[in-house]
Amino acid sequence: MIAASLKNATRTYGAGATAVSALHEASVDIVANRFTVLRGPSGSGKTTMLNLFGGIDRATSGKVAVAGQELETLRGRALSDFRARHIGFVFQSFNLIPVLSAYENVEYPLTLLAGSKAKRRDEILALLDAVGVARHARRLPGELSGGQQQRVAIARALITRPVLVLADEPTANLDSETGAQIIGLMRRMQRERATSFVFSSHDPQLVASADDVVDIRDGRIVSVKRVAPSEVLQ
Ligand SMILES: Nc1ncnc2c1ncn2[C@@H]1O[C@H](COP(=O)(O)OP(=O)(O)OP(=O)(O)O)[C@@H](O)[C@H]1O
Ligand SMILES: [Mg+2]
Repeated sequence: MIAASLKNATRTYGAGATAVSALHEASVDIVANRFTVLRGPSGSGKTTMLNLFGGIDRATSGKVAVAGQELETLRGRALSDFRARHIGFVFQSFNLIPVLSAYENVEYPLTLLAGSKAKRRDEILALLDAVGVARHARRLPGELSGGQQQRVAIARALITRPVLVLADEPTANLDSETGAQIIGLMRRMQRERATSFVFSSHDPQLVASADDVVDIRDGRIVSVKRVAPSEVLQ
């Protein structure tokens, strides 16, 4: 199964002589239930690609699909609803809402969807427990370490059971030991919750734990290495 794909996706910033192709005719399939890393030097187009998959940005030309839905056909409310239901985000700088507790940060994406508050509570507490921060549920982000904040952010990304979790350099602001713990946690959550993770990273530890590695240079995909075997590729 394919969780997401790009077909000849180009994203150009600016126009005329100063135009920059952040991504140029990129085509790739993100295989479902796997851990995919986007690897490339600074400025190669990793964030641009993640923003296209997340529906945060639109391709100048070409197609972007997530869970079989072409994102360019969605506008406004339909796009934000699709994103809220199917895509989770993890950021380099955690991006938790500072005035909400850990619990409330994880609850927040659910408030955009229908569902009973009591059922939500059990799911939020179970997920905070699974990521190892249950005892900090009432704390504000400013009262948590970077690693703990990223654990909360991972729970927030997963609470809606998304098909795709996008993470832009999720370990870049963490020391290497904490980064390794966070990678292990994401790996475990990806398997347990049967979701697909796509990361951008320079972190060799993260790249080493990937199932698939997409190499990008100057906005072009130069190789896609399927490191782990997959039934869909045979
Ligand atoms: N809003 C923008 N306006 C103009 N150019 C942009 C914009 N965003 C990105 N670019 C350019 O597009 C190219 C790709 O940028 P992108 O942020 O995707 O790279 P990256 O691989 O994520 O880099 P890094 O590892 O530094 O985060 C770069 O040349 C960048 O300068
Ligand atoms: Mg980037």
